[in-house]
Amino acid sequence: MNDLSKSLLKTSPSGNKNFISVNDVNDINALVQKALSYKSDPFKDKLLGQNKRVGCLFLNPSMRTRLSTQIAAQNLGMEAIVFNVGAEGWALEFEEGVIMNGSSVEHIKDAAPVLGKYFDILAIRTFPSLKNRDEDYSEQYIKQFVKYAGIPIISLESATLHPLQSLADLITIQEFYKVPPPPEGVGGRLKVVLTWAPHIKPLPQCVANSFSQWINAWDKTDFIITHPEGYELDSQFTKGATVIFNQKEALENADFVYIKNWSSYKKYGKILCTDETWMLNNKKLEQTNNAKVMHCLPVRRNIELRDEVLDGAYSIVTQQASNRVWAAQAVLSELCPHPLKGG
Ligand code: CP
Repeated sequence: MNDLSKSLLKTSPSGNKNFISVNDVNDINALVQKALSYKSDPFKDKLLGQNKRVGCLFLNPSMRTRLSTQIAAQNLGMEAIVFNVGAEGWALEFEEGVIMNGSSVEHIKDAAPVLGKYFDILAIRTFPSLKNRDEDYSEQYIKQFVKYAGIPIISLESATLHPLQSLADLITIQEFYKVPPPPEGVGGRLKVVLTWAPHIKPLPQCVANSFSQWINAWDKTDFIITHPEGYELDSQFTKGATVIFNQKEALENADFVYIKNWSSYKKYGKILCTDETWMLNNKKLEQTNNAKVMHCLPVRRNIELRDEVLDGAYSIVTQQASNRVWAAQAVLSELCPHPLKGG
């Protein structure tokens, strides 16, 4: 059973635990190990979530996040109710003091407390607008849920971060640490490279921000980010990483290559480069240390990544996506001791 005194998530000043970023975690390694223990024995805590309910609110589409969270809850004996707010709910207003004479029908100040009475935990997915950087990076949507719901909040991806994805990414990398001998390199640490890839649409920086934040905080690997000039991420997330504009140089002796597109943070939401020579192929992989290839999915084949790589022996994207279940289960299990609500 869970031991409150050994909680792996921090308690916020409001008295709740949330899972919004790596900063909510007390012990990343222990959380990774807990997730792996669920992978070995998915039903070992099948009564932990009994009589508890998680509400999964989606303001945007999803496959992996939605299903893995539902499965994780079920493994713990917890009920998960999914509500596609974006498609089926009232349009929510998040701005304080606004005159609601536009398209929004219900204010978050009214909706979130109701959801806080229906559920024990709320999990929310939102996306950035990619139009107003200050607004997106203020994380207003998820912060309003934290402020007004009164129960633990899990981010299923927010405007700037995707913490359950990042936890699954670390779990996946950790699984390869079991294989001896330790790799060559600085201090015998694995070399992980996050490389930008082209895309036809402007995508959020969430996955890249979040992966950078988690892998830096984990501090078990040498971490390099490579991208064309102009695609620098917000330094609050990349602090500690080495940034190299030359992809060939960055890939040298890499043990893991994480491919992801993101739109520009500097020229916010803009596509500055469509150069397909940034797309990873088998030739480029030759200069790595037989690197495992990661991508959070969904991926646009032959835009972001060549078929030959995705279908090749070094792709671990399915393993990575399957680990989303154990990431969600570890986090949900940490939120189970939340006392039952009154009134
Ligand atoms: N990686 C990820 O979050 O996938 P979905 O958008 O399908 O949830």
